[in-house]
Amino acid sequence: MASCAAMDSQPDRRPSQLLAAGVMALALGAGVLAWVLDRPPRPDLSGVLLDTQRALPSFSLARHDGGRMTRADLEGHWSLLFFGFTHCPDVCPTTLFTLREAMAQMEGERPQVILVSLDPMRDTPEILAAYVPYFHPTFIGLTGELPEVQELADGLGVAYAYVAGEDGDYSVDHTASLFLVDPQGRLAGLFHPPHDAERIARDMTEVMR
Ligand code: NI
Repeated sequence: MASCAAMDSQPDRRPSQLLAAGVMALALGAGVLAWVLDRPPRPDLSGVLLDTQRALPSFSLARHDGGRMTRADLEGHWSLLFFGFTHCPDVCPTTLFTLREAMAQMEGERPQVILVSLDPMRDTPEILAAYVPYFHPTFIGLTGELPEVQELADGLGVAYAYVAGEDGDYSVDHTASLFLVDPQGRLAGLFHPPHDAERIARDMTEVMR
């Protein structure tokens, strides 16, 4: 052992005692480190949770499965809101697939996942009914009159823009961020892209703990 050799070579006992104390401290440190590393790391939610929760504007939107959803319906559980549209070629399907994966990786209670259509002109409840449950049977699609949808989106600070196409068609540019609503019905956090199912599952488990 290196420490024994060092002790033997020292006629003066004080340095060897210091060395022994140092070795003990190192061993203790390694033990503590091993104990810390052995435990699953707690996710850092500082990039997700807002310092101050923000109240949502009141709304009443049509659900894809009939009926309506209001702000009061968000109370009592955690929700993840996503703003998009069914004609979306990439961001929406990719994000909804990622959310499906995240839900599959979670155990116990899961957040309510809600797609709010920014294209209510085309996204009727029937269109949403043929789209949203495909990703997950519990996901909810919401639509309504454009001003209503926009009031909710604007109240949450959702970035979006309508882009005219050449053939009279149009598309919707929109943020891929997920808006986390707490059981008091307040905006409590944001998940920014790129999204990772494992991270969302881990962070949501920690948030809902
Ligand atoms: Ni999209």
